[in-house]
Amino acid sequence: MSLPSPLSLLAKAPVVPVVVIERLADAVPLARALVDGGLPLIEITLRTPVALEAVRAVAAQVEGAVVGAGTVVERAQIEAALEAGATFLVSPGTTPALAEAFAALQVPVMAGCATASEAMRLFEMGFEVLKFFPAEASGGAGFLKSIAGPLPHLRFCPTGGIGPGNVMDYLSLPNVLAVGGSWVVPNEAIRSGDFAKVHALAAAAATLKRAATFA
Ligand code: 3PG
Repeated sequence: MSLPSPLSLLAKAPVVPVVVIERLADAVPLARALVDGGLPLIEITLRTPVALEAVRAVAAQVEGAVVGAGTVVERAQIEAALEAGATFLVSPGTTPALAEAFAALQVPVMAGCATASEAMRLFEMGFEVLKFFPAEASGGAGFLKSIAGPLPHLRFCPTGGIGPGNVMDYLSLPNVLAVGGSWVVPNEAIRSGDFAKVHALAAAAATLKRAATFA
């Protein structure tokens, strides 16, 4: 089975900012700073009351942004996220019901997993790129390096605990297409409206080189 692949999306940037929007008014300037800095893929987490409206605002108003919805944990969120304009979906883990719902969609999904068995099962279902979460707590880059031997076909976007100090441990692995992280969108910068700071962090992240190939 072949599902819509996140591959061409992830080719756009080595880092996917994982964004938590508390105030709707922050969404558009934040997304502009990320896109202008070179990170067009943006995951807005569905963890705040304004998250869906934030997805809608960024999708409608920020040219060049490719906005997705993260923290998708149940079926009911899927339709709302897509209706708001999300062009990809991300989950922290994947229950059987969620996997079944994702598999019926026409948008790329990065389904979450944290073990070899979970990853194998999702690949069997047709999910080509998996979110490895929580990356650092689940074994980090060492885990991904270890499973590349027996399972070289599995490819990941790890997220959770990744920052400037360890991002290259991940991006230097051939089975890591990109990483997700919140370090480029610090809460204090968002709260204080310091989007220049976000722009600078995005610009630094956008230049990171990765070992993975996208063929
Ligand atoms: C999340 O869903 O919170 C992401 O995994 C972000 O993790 P981070 O804040 O450790 O980058």
